[in-house]
Amino acid sequence: MHIAILYNRDHELLEDDPGREAREDVTRVASALSEALSHGDVHAEPLAVEGAGLEFVDLLARMQPDLVINLCESVAADARGEMVIPCLLDMLGLPYTGSPALSLGLALHKDKAKELLKARGVSTPGFARLDRVEDVATLELPFPLIVKPAREDASVGITSDSVVHDRASLGRAVEAVLRTFHQPALVEQFIPGREIYVPLLGNHPRRALPLTEIRFGKLFEDRPNIVTYAAKWESNSPDYQNTPTAPCLLEDAALEARLVRTAMDAFAALECQDYGRVDLRVTPEGVPYVIDINPNCDLHPEAGFAKAARAAGLDYSALATRLVEIALERAHAHGHPTARRKGPGAPRLPDPSNRNVLAGRNGSRDRARRARASAE
Ligand SMILES: Nc1ncnc2c1ncn2[C@@H]1O[C@H](COP(=O)(O)OP(=O)(O)O)[C@@H](O)[C@H]1O
Ligand SMILES: [Mg+2]
Repeated sequence: MHIAILYNRDHELLEDDPGREAREDVTRVASALSEALSHGDVHAEPLAVEGAGLEFVDLLARMQPDLVINLCESVAADARGEMVIPCLLDMLGLPYTGSPALSLGLALHKDKAKELLKARGVSTPGFARLDRVEDVATLELPFPLIVKPAREDASVGITSDSVVHDRASLGRAVEAVLRTFHQPALVEQFIPGREIYVPLLGNHPRRALPLTEIRFGKLFEDRPNIVTYAAKWESNSPDYQNTPTAPCLLEDAALEARLVRTAMDAFAALECQDYGRVDLRVTPEGVPYVIDINPNCDLHPEAGFAKAARAAGLDYSALATRLVEIALERAHAHGHPTARRKGPGAPRLPDPSNRNVLAGRNGSRDRARRARASAE
């Protein structure tokens, strides 16, 4: 079996990239997965998406791997490029791991994701999206609030100053997001309490791996208890050292069930698939709030998802193999859109003249397969 591990190599692209460490991490994940999967007749080969280049599309079209492990979190150091990758893989007709473009796009457009959660009755903090600093004057949400970039993840843009208690500091935080990230600011009610992560694996069935919790150390006694960018990525920083992850032991089984249910509902609302992590804040009264949905979450061997899998008895190579199986099972169960039934009652297909990207693909894929088979 031939697997392509697609990842973004764009961390050297911008001199002053507020998400550089997050972007560099994915290169290490690609190597770890390649090592974990490549044995016997499995060949798992990292393939970089460099900058904004599309060379990888031609390469994949020639390669015709049996599966693409999609680790891309950004394109050209822009997180909004993440959702382009599954679209291109769909057009190539290649099965891939993780969520489709729509889910990735929704998870990254936090205000849209939250509208969906609200519509489905999934608990999430009250919020507003601010496109202009002038909107601060008319905002009607009770303080304290937290301000974050509406289109980033991995704690990019989150500092202690993101939590605000009055309109003047709200104005400064919103202004900083608009100026630094050139995107709207998401203003959300700040939820005090514990921060608990629910890792989810599989589709039918989908199960929760053991829950993990962020412990806020001494440094955070007189600071907002939040996972800042430094806490997430800068391993020498006091923020990082004071936010260890720990297994989340809940004595209250009903509370645990409520957290898992909320996380699953949020994951399903965005139509995420295969694997991911839903982050919750839980008030001292035990009310869960979804604060972040992470489809295609970090698969680094030392990151939370792999640790949770280990706690459930899946070591890294078992997890990697399971991810491959889950994606292939799903892809084979649904088939690919281009393999849809033709004839009466079948879904209407676009005019063939507009489908030149897809035209002849099955044929060329068969040819590629035959060429490979005869070369073996
Ligand atoms: N509504 C909230 N209430 C309390 N803390 C929050 C809230 N939203 C975010 N945080 C804190 O900020 C961190 C980063 O926010 P998050 O929404 O997860 O953004 P990202 O997608 O960048 O990870 C969270 O891990 C949490 O500590
Ligand atoms: Mg988060």
